[in-house]
Amino acid sequence: MAQEYKLKGVTSLDLKPGEKKEVEVEGLDAKVLLLNAGGTVQATGDVEDAPALDALTVFKTTERDGAFYITGEAATIKAGSRKPNKRIVTAGANTDKVIVVGGGSGALGVIEGLREKGFSGPVTLISSEGYLPIDRPKLSKALLTDLAKLQWRDQEWFKSGSVEIVEDEVTGVDFSSKTVSTKSGGKFAYTKLVLSTGGTPRLLQLPGFKVLGNIFTLRNVHDVKKIVAAIGEKGKKIVVIGSSFIGMEIAGATAAGNDVTVVGMEKAPLERVLGEKVGNIIKKGIESKGVKFYMSAGVEKAEPSASDPAKVGFVHLKDGTKLEADLVILGVGVAPATEYLKDNSVVRLEQDGSLKTDESFSVIGLKDVYAVGDIATYPYHGPGGDGKYVRIEHWNVAQNAGRTVASHIVSPGIKAEFFTPVFWSALGAQLRYCGNTMANGWDDLVLQGKPDEGKWAAYYTKGETVVAMASMGMDPAMAQSAQLMQLGRMPSKKQLQDGLDVLSVGPPQLFFHPLARVPGPRLAALSNIWHAYHARNGLMLRLGRTLHAKYGPVVRVGPNEVWFDSREGFKAIYNTANGFEKSDFYLATSLNKPTIDWRLNLHFPDTLDFLSEFDMKRYRLQRRLIGPVYQTSNLKRFEPAVDAVIEQAIHELRALDGAEVDLKEWMHIIVVECLGAVVLSWSPGYIKNRSDGGTSTQGYTGWKRKSVFGLFPTVTAAAFFSKTISRTFSNIWGITFSTPKGFKPFFTPVYQKSSKRIAAALRTAPKLHRADDRKDLLADLIQLHKDKPAFTETYLRRLAVTNFGAGHETMCAALTAAMAMIASHPAVQRHVADEVTPLTRSHARASQNSIPYDDIQKLKYTQASIKESQRLHPVIGMSLSRRVPLAGVSLHGIYFPPGTTVGCNPVSLHRNRAIFGDDADAFVPERWLNRGTQEDEERRRVMERCNLTWGGGGRACPGRHLAEMVVGKVVGALVGGFEVRVEMPREEEGRGYFVAMLTGVRARFLLRNR
Ligand SMILES: Cc1cc2nc3c(=O)[nH]c(=O)nc-3n(C[C@H](O)[C@H](O)[C@H](O)COP(=O)(O)OP(=O)(O)OC[C@H]3O[C@@H](n4cnc5c(N)ncnc54)[C@H](O)[C@@H]3O)c2cc1C
Ligand code: HEM
Repeated sequence: MAQEYKLKGVTSLDLKPGEKKEVEVEGLDAKVLLLNAGGTVQATGDVEDAPALDALTVFKTTERDGAFYITGEAATIKAGSRKPNKRIVTAGANTDKVIVVGGGSGALGVIEGLREKGFSGPVTLISSEGYLPIDRPKLSKALLTDLAKLQWRDQEWFKSGSVEIVEDEVTGVDFSSKTVSTKSGGKFAYTKLVLSTGGTPRLLQLPGFKVLGNIFTLRNVHDVKKIVAAIGEKGKKIVVIGSSFIGMEIAGATAAGNDVTVVGMEKAPLERVLGEKVGNIIKKGIESKGVKFYMSAGVEKAEPSASDPAKVGFVHLKDGTKLEADLVILGVGVAPATEYLKDNSVVRLEQDGSLKTDESFSVIGLKDVYAVGDIATYPYHGPGGDGKYVRIEHWNVAQNAGRTVASHIVSPGIKAEFFTPVFWSALGAQLRYCGNTMANGWDDLVLQGKPDEGKWAAYYTKGETVVAMASMGMDPAMAQSAQLMQLGRMPSKKQLQDGLDVLSVGPPQLFFHPLARVPGPRLAALSNIWHAYHARNGLMLRLGRTLHAKYGPVVRVGPNEVWFDSREGFKAIYNTANGFEKSDFYLATSLNKPTIDWRLNLHFPDTLDFLSEFDMKRYRLQRRLIGPVYQTSNLKRFEPAVDAVIEQAIHELRALDGAEVDLKEWMHIIVVECLGAVVLSWSPGYIKNRSDGGTSTQGYTGWKRKSVFGLFPTVTAAAFFSKTISRTFSNIWGITFSTPKGFKPFFTPVYQKSSKRIAAALRTAPKLHRADDRKDLLADLIQLHKDKPAFTETYLRRLAVTNFGAGHETMCAALTAAMAMIASHPAVQRHVADEVTPLTRSHARASQNSIPYDDIQKLKYTQASIKESQRLHPVIGMSLSRRVPLAGVSLHGIYFPPGTTVGCNPVSLHRNRAIFGDDADAFVPERWLNRGTQEDEERRRVMERCNLTWGGGGRACPGRHLAEMVVGKVVGALVGGFEVRVEMPREEEGRGYFVAMLTGVRARFLLRNR
């Protein structure tokens, strides 16, 4: 159970942006990190596990009586990190088969990365280690042997992600036939192969070392078990050969109760990586545990024990020193474990036995083969790297390389991102290290802090560039340096020498923003101008089609806004139960002016403004009230009104005799006429005039304006109260909205007519007036008000007009898309015509062309064609944006704090291959047909569910049934009555805003030969 815990000694949360502070949690043996991320102070899990698989948890902070508290579960706070709350999922139909060889850090990165990114093909992990992937660094720090504590993920987790696990040793790879063979005779075919076989500890080629017992190396749990058994009840003399990380950690871990000696070749331990000065600081710490050191020492031989000649008894150094040893542990480095490729004629191993790769970890010279982790030599683009090749044996490098490979397999076009190598070690105290000195070395060191007190930071420099950083007792400085290196913004050597504290670097908010890890165009992270520029220029459709292809399933499109193109994102955001409510974008679509309180909160009047309603209590009541009126069973009563419009439209289109028309305008004409007839028993006269009076074009310009305003909610809020702000902003963006001279919007008569009828119907003495016997939708709504006072007169007046406001462009867009797509695919048009023409004939007497809605609903192919058109041309071209609720959310392995604007753009979601298959870009109505198999049914279910044609979750379209009736009947009648020929505009000519339409389609309606 989550509960409140006091933060020890914290009296203020006054941290600068980017500043971090580690604090203890009272009552728990745990620490959390306070940080000012993007202007908000957060408490997160300890940094210890930062380069680990699990995201850090952010805990709620509260202040009471001058003290600060965090809220969370004790176990989570202690663990510091949080297991992803999701299972890995597979979806769709990827055709690749991935084989991962080796079950270590690199392998985990690949597997998690693949499934997170929606890869749905088969994944097989072949490992010879004898158990599931473990947290290897723990081995030397705590000599753990309990697999339950060491394994990262359990069997069930792999099973849930459909990862096949094979316990076997790979003995060879045939790169031409793309098969991997194993020791037990297995053969495994792949289309993508990831090699992550890690390292084999080196042995000493010196007398005695190869033959004597009780001489150990340390790479896996089997090794640890042997070491633990040899130590037994302690009191042993242990000689550790090698004074680099593993040697030093083992010495530290075994010091208590044993007599431990470290023998090292260098002048100081860890000298190769950290330099002599820092090495000696660390040595002091280990010495304080009773460990003895022989540095600058050479080993000569191992001598058998007097009591058991099969086991080691002494180690001789070159200077004549003889060290007594009950056991010896070698920490003298590892060699890339690539023996299975040694004799392969196709691949050339590097001199050290590693594989050379590019930035995506594709093995150079091989196709579809990747190498990650300790066996990979890759170009380093970190500070001072210059793209030189390095092989880095770090846990986080292997795992990040694995994730890079996963991205490359899923989206080969995406450029691999640089990640800062991070390393940590338990050497008396916790050592943190980031960056790398291997590419070009280092020539100087800037030491800050107080080494005597165990708090220091060492900056390794080459010229003026800081290429690496190590610290003890100053974790936030390391975390900050790693981020600055990633962004190429590390301070210079001179600045550090002058005493600059990296934590004081006042970084632009963006760098420490919680969304800094989310890929996307650089400019988008800076301000919403990038997004608004695209909205203003009508480029939303293009963004929908290209952004995810370039950056992957999660893209940052604004400082605080992220788009998702995945089932995972869709399900989280639009599941009603998850509480993602509408974002501030919808302020721009508000029909009312709000009032403002002293806290600058906006309050909107209760008028039934569905699209912009932020008060969910009101909204739910309103939806419940109107539900029955907008049900198909009720709406079918208005079919004759729609039929009459159809007849009139067909008559007029016939009279045009095949002349070319603007498809969008004609569909708008029909739609407004249908709405007029259904809602008000009224005609705007558009069919007769063969024109919509410019209303569709004018309305579309309105959306351009709303789309830009929506991206600047503060301006939108201010514009409610100041015409000057509104005008100035519109002028700057070129989105002024003027009505042409003589322009007559249909809203004026709609408003007047509905208002007059409502007033008449609600007058107290109706008998004085002629009874209104019109049986249209407005009549239903008036009756609803009479029956249910909760459906107020204000609601009634507003909803009468909303039918037109929300329905005219959306139905026009859907009809235009359906007619354009059907007509531009002759085989589809033929198929639809074959379905509808028999029905138009059979109903010829009742009405020339219209088909009863009951029949239209049964036309499987026609319905599939409409659905498919709406999929490829959804009416919304921008994200249906929502706000992350208070608890925050973890998606795709990234934590999104409360208040982040998130959403899916239907344009990209509807082309997602994991949902719609590899032909997602093509117009294929057949995909919606049930061909009888269970697999087919499941595929269709996923397509229906992960779909934004009618909006998402609790805020889905209330007018859907009305729209489906009108669109279905109009499409049926038009294709039944005409052979429609269209000329499609080029894709790049299309303009899409929040509302998106297929503009520029030229159409001719030719009489069908019956
Ligand atoms: C004791 C110890 C402590 C460490 N501490 C730290 C630390 O604190 N911080 C840090 O950053 N790094 C640390 N490292 C280094 C880090 O663990 C490695 O860099 C990292 O594990 C490399 O990942 P990998 O996937 O390349 O290989 P590994 O994690 O070693 O995995 C390789 C896997 O391949 C399997 N394999 C090998 N050959 C075959 C074959 N032919 N067929 C099938 N399977 C095969 C192995 O059994 C193993 O499962 C430590 C390493 C060790 C050994
Ligand atoms: C084919 C035609 C239509 C399509 C494709 C369509 C689609 C949509 C979509 C995608 C949304 C969600 C918008 C968002 O979340 O930002 C929506 C909302 C809405 N639609 Fe429709 N619509 C259509 C026709 C209609 C009609 C005819 C009406 C008239 C009653 C209507 C009334 C509404 C209303 C009031 C909302 C706002 C609901 C809310 O925000 O909670 N729609 N529609």
